[in-house]
Amino acid sequence: ALGPVANINIINKNIAPDGFTRSTVLAGGTFPGPLIQAHKGDNFRINVINQLSDTSMNTSTSIHWHGILQHQSNWADGTSFVTQCPILPNDSFLYNFTVPDQAGTFWYHSHLSTQYCDGLRAPLVIYDDDDPLAHMYDVDDASTVIMLSDWYHSTSAQISAAGPPFIPDATLINGLGRYSGGPLSSLAAINVEHGKRYRFRLIGASCDPWFNFTMDGHNMTIIEADGIEVEPVVVDSLPIFAGQRYSVVVTADQPVDNYWIRAFPDNGPQTFDGGLNSAILRYAGAPTNDPTTEQGPYALPFDEGALHPLSDAGAPGIAEPGKADVNINFVTGNTQGEFTMNGFTFVAPPLPVLLQILSGARHASQLLPNGSVYELPYNKVIEISIPSTDLTPGGAPGAPHPFHLHGHVFDVVRVAGSSSYNFVNPVRRDTVSTGVQANNDNVTFRFVTNNPGPWFLHCHIDWHLHEGFGVVMAEATSEIAAEEHPPDYWASQCSSTLR
Ligand code: C2O
Repeated sequence: ALGPVANINIINKNIAPDGFTRSTVLAGGTFPGPLIQAHKGDNFRINVINQLSDTSMNTSTSIHWHGILQHQSNWADGTSFVTQCPILPNDSFLYNFTVPDQAGTFWYHSHLSTQYCDGLRAPLVIYDDDDPLAHMYDVDDASTVIMLSDWYHSTSAQISAAGPPFIPDATLINGLGRYSGGPLSSLAAINVEHGKRYRFRLIGASCDPWFNFTMDGHNMTIIEADGIEVEPVVVDSLPIFAGQRYSVVVTADQPVDNYWIRAFPDNGPQTFDGGLNSAILRYAGAPTNDPTTEQGPYALPFDEGALHPLSDAGAPGIAEPGKADVNINFVTGNTQGEFTMNGFTFVAPPLPVLLQILSGARHASQLLPNGSVYELPYNKVIEISIPSTDLTPGGAPGAPHPFHLHGHVFDVVRVAGSSSYNFVNPVRRDTVSTGVQANNDNVTFRFVTNNPGPWFLHCHIDWHLHEGFGVVMAEATSEIAAEEHPPDYWASQCSSTLR
């Protein structure tokens, strides 16, 4: 594991995490990339060194620290063409930011095109030494990260060029898995000791599918969603969408044995036969073979509306739908294989939106990409609704869509699948599913514009983002020049990109 001060080399490497060898783009040469561990309040100085050379994939890069709010460090958010120019091969870029008051489970990934699907994804954990829920678990260390990802045998460039459907070849848990017809390659083992209680940090590091996560014979007590601690809720299955994280407390209270951990994808291999979509919960003293446990029965389903922040939260503004200071109801669509939000497909601009703003552009009409930038006033309550899809011809396909907002956590005042609103204690998170297409679901969330900067709001299915399913929230543009002080090398990064 790395501390918050580290060098990370981005390299191409052939790996076979499921027994099939392919070229990849990796942080630190491993999949997942190295765990970064920090403590609340830490200053991060992560120097990213681009050593990519395989031109069958993107050789530039940038790294986004998913879930980190980046207050006064929007320039370090890592989003190519929104907050920075990509890092070219043989260049490096120092991400220098402070995380004053966040703790919990995060991840980092490439934010250039679909590059994280080629491997550049990794966990990031911030510890709170005064964790109010620490009494619920005995063990919380690096080995308790459980990172779920989809995996492909073709490069992301080949997959996006081929177009939908985007079908993964395998599910990897902590970077290991099996594919249909492949060898019985090693699966991840999560090692526990009988009688102990563990905090497992689940990370939905997917490019596309969401996973229904279960552990045979064990319930899970949810205590964190997307870096926000919640009042404990017990479930026996848990849907995890691309970009989302949960901490669950699990008590190793079953007989010493091996138990299947299952991550069933909505898209990808649709079976557990032969250890597909699986890892192993292994008690100390159990033999090192595959489990033989049966799944289910399941009786404690997940209900997102039942998650409530541990701290007194409550949504900002007048407690009535549509009564925020600014209300945006998105219409989503798909024309000629490109997604639209309110009629516009996001196309990366030639210069990062932040650089445009710091160069004097203040208003959405002046900012590129035209039609995809929304200007939000400072210190106001914003309400955003996003439909799963519009049940009209041309509506956006491929739901459920997990939408992620950079720079904020938001209060989900209406969860997908519900027609009622909760302004009192809604779940607060940074990535939310828009729900099921057939039900015409819709999700509504609120936040306060207290973090000046251009922030990406997008579907975290990376293939959909590549097809333009996102917008930029240019928040408090009048304040950005006073608040943002990017280092000199930040702007010169762009001259090297343009040279
Ligand atoms: Cu996890 Cu815009 O990303």
